[in-house]
Amino acid sequence: MDIEQIRSQIPVLAHTAYMNTGWSGPPPRRVAQAMKDRIDLELEQGPIMPQVLQAGREIQAQAREAAARIFNATLDEVLVTRNTTEGINIVLSGLDWKQGDEIIICDMEHGSVIAPSQLVAQRYGAVVRVVDLNVQDSSEAILTKIEAAFTPKTRMVFVSHILYATGRRMPAEELRRITKDRGIFLMLDGAQTGGHIELDMARSGFDFYSIPGQKWLLGYEGSGALFIRRDHLERVHPAHTGGRGIVRPADAHNFQPVADTMEKFLGGSVSVPVQAAFLEATKFIEEIGIKNIEQRNMDLAESAKAKLSEIPGVTVTSPSERRDSSGLVSFAIAGQEPISVVERLWANHRLVVRQVGHPAATRASIHFFNTQEEIDLLVGGVRELV
Ligand SMILES: Cc1ncc(COP(=O)(O)O)c(C=O)c1O
Repeated sequence: MDIEQIRSQIPVLAHTAYMNTGWSGPPPRRVAQAMKDRIDLELEQGPIMPQVLQAGREIQAQAREAAARIFNATLDEVLVTRNTTEGINIVLSGLDWKQGDEIIICDMEHGSVIAPSQLVAQRYGAVVRVVDLNVQDSSEAILTKIEAAFTPKTRMVFVSHILYATGRRMPAEELRRITKDRGIFLMLDGAQTGGHIELDMARSGFDFYSIPGQKWLLGYEGSGALFIRRDHLERVHPAHTGGRGIVRPADAHNFQPVADTMEKFLGGSVSVPVQAAFLEATKFIEEIGIKNIEQRNMDLAESAKAKLSEIPGVTVTSPSERRDSSGLVSFAIAGQEPISVVERLWANHRLVVRQVGHPAATRASIHFFNTQEEIDLLVGGVRELV
């Protein structure tokens, strides 16, 4: 991996130590260019001229193929969405919930897991069971806690594959093992995984999985992708739809909500420029190789965690075991508010990190374009604050 060559394609890195990909990744120039090219085409030729329409359809088709490759899923199991949360809502609001059905989430979850689960509870009388985790919990301990929360009414386990606050990689494959035989759905929020770690829907057997385009894939806001296992397509009703959701246009007055096709979730028009950026971003990431990216992110994160934890008064809240880890590195400084740490690292070093809650910490997102020098800048900056 030629890091200098990669960095030269991401302009923001020339003047900023960017460690906030977990919020939104810095776009490579060619990703922005793909979006600009599409905007210019529409500008110069008009948005619905036949050749422009056709090119737009091709971009959408290729974006969907790219999403299928990222998931390692078949095309008919994948939909390009507007963000992670949209994909989550398509699934949560589309399943046929019954009074008393139970959804298991954990207490370190993002609002995009919490709120859609609560909505289902409020609308259909389902019950959200929250499993309390500790940052020190091993994968085995997490599995034991989740399994202990199972009842005959458990219908879904819904967790983030990588927890946003600590970067902990949840034992998703083991979760699939313990849910599958019991007929419990496993829904994973992949906001922190797509473009960061290798995904394999075909092998893992996950039921539902949603990712964004704007974070680790380095695309733009307004893009994402959803995977629904083919066996479940008929079970997920579209909570909203429109003309593009009509699977058989010749028979438009016979809309099929139980059709086994992802198209039923499409409503109206989409932003083709944003999908062009999503497509280019996935190509950029695929050319570098997600496996290579994952290894480098883990190596850099390991180094950051080791150095930060040597600083007196600093507690690293991310896992130390490599198999539980990701490129997210969170740490707390005794007696200092995370927000003030964020502000001072920016003011002192142009270093971009963010604060997170539960547990309260400052989070650095380390992606393949970051360097050991930037890790050392972070560690030095934290040492100064201490
Ligand atoms: C775990 C998790 N879920 C969901 C989201 C929201 O993602 P999106 O804006 O793509 O819906 C985030 C973003 O920070 C996240 O970290």
